[in-house]
Amino acid sequence: MRRLGRGCEDRSVLTDAPLVLGIETSCDETGVGIVRGHELLADAVASSVEEHARFGGVVPEVASRAHLEAMVPTVERACETAGVAVGDVDAIAVTAGPGLAGALLVGVAAAKALALSLGKPLYGVNHLASHVAVDQLEHGALPEPCLAMLVSGGHSSILRVSDVTAEDDGVVPLGATIDDAAGEAFDKVARLLGLPFPGGPHIDRAAREGSVTIDFPRGLTSRRDLERHRFDYSFSGLKTAVARWVEARERSGEPVPVADVAASFQEAVCDVLTRKAVDAAVEEGVEDILIGGGVAANSRLRVLCEERAAAKGVRVRVPRPGLCTDNGAMVAALGAEMVARGRAPSSYDLPADSSMPVTEVLA
Ligand code: KG4
Ligand code: ZN
Repeated sequence: MRRLGRGCEDRSVLTDAPLVLGIETSCDETGVGIVRGHELLADAVASSVEEHARFGGVVPEVASRAHLEAMVPTVERACETAGVAVGDVDAIAVTAGPGLAGALLVGVAAAKALALSLGKPLYGVNHLASHVAVDQLEHGALPEPCLAMLVSGGHSSILRVSDVTAEDDGVVPLGATIDDAAGEAFDKVARLLGLPFPGGPHIDRAAREGSVTIDFPRGLTSRRDLERHRFDYSFSGLKTAVARWVEARERSGEPVPVADVAASFQEAVCDVLTRKAVDAAVEEGVEDILIGGGVAANSRLRVLCEERAAAKGVRVRVPRPGLCTDNGAMVAALGAEMVARGRAPSSYDLPADSSMPVTEVLA
């Protein structure tokens, strides 16, 4: 296998690109992906989402048990789709954190077993950095430096990414949510509106039938807030505002216009997310914004970000929706990048770190 140094500009000419299997179990998706360099060969996902739906959120114990049952069949399915034997891979990558502790343990233990039995290097990677790296499977080499807007069920942050595989200053956080994550806000508001869990896709769909008729608050956008929280987000005030609006409507005996509330809420979230990301890109002097995480699947977010970025001469890259939500291909993508850039693998005793900071790309 040819190893490329950091300085190598043209990774597209890599003919013997690393074949990497990636395992993702940080939440409720058992994902196993196989990539060869930037080429996606398989993306097998088994979700336990339906088992959590009646609780209105992911139940960690249920998720861990589901991972344990789904792991081997999902590895087999990925190998079959990719047309490779598991022993052919050059490396095993796994999400080491952040995420649900028990869920991560299942993936990390499975990855260790595979790596050890096959005698392959093991890369324990950061889930958040994987959400950034996955874009290379769709659009080729990452445009580093770039501005990454990471919006998922557990995290919302703005990152300056100069090297997605580097420990020191490769990924620098510029801002983050100070309360709820964007996806969490979507899920909580969906619940208020009687829509199923996880609510993001349902709000997205409902919003297409409605109009932006309610002016919900935009958190941390006042002049005073911007002084201290330039690129931070806050969504809990917005969630409360929606709850109050819906309650008032119900008290008055009038029907709740679900589609309009969904559209107005979605607009408030997307407005703040895109405004801050584009401002950050301009301020940092980077030419590309990369959106990752489950909320990146949101149709309005994609359109609004494109529009606003284009007005400032900034490009936007977003993977297709299936690669935005949790999957194993994103882990394999970051693992392949680690191998291609000659990063040392993790040791076989690597821990699962449920609160792994975004700046730590490799465990
Ligand atoms: O990245 P992800 O799959 O898991 C985490 O790492 O958290 O993100 C899941 C989140 C959920 O909150 C879900 O409601 C949200 O992404 N989501 C969406 C959409 N699709 C998924 N939010 C808004 N619009 C969507 N189309
Ligand atoms: Zn995620």
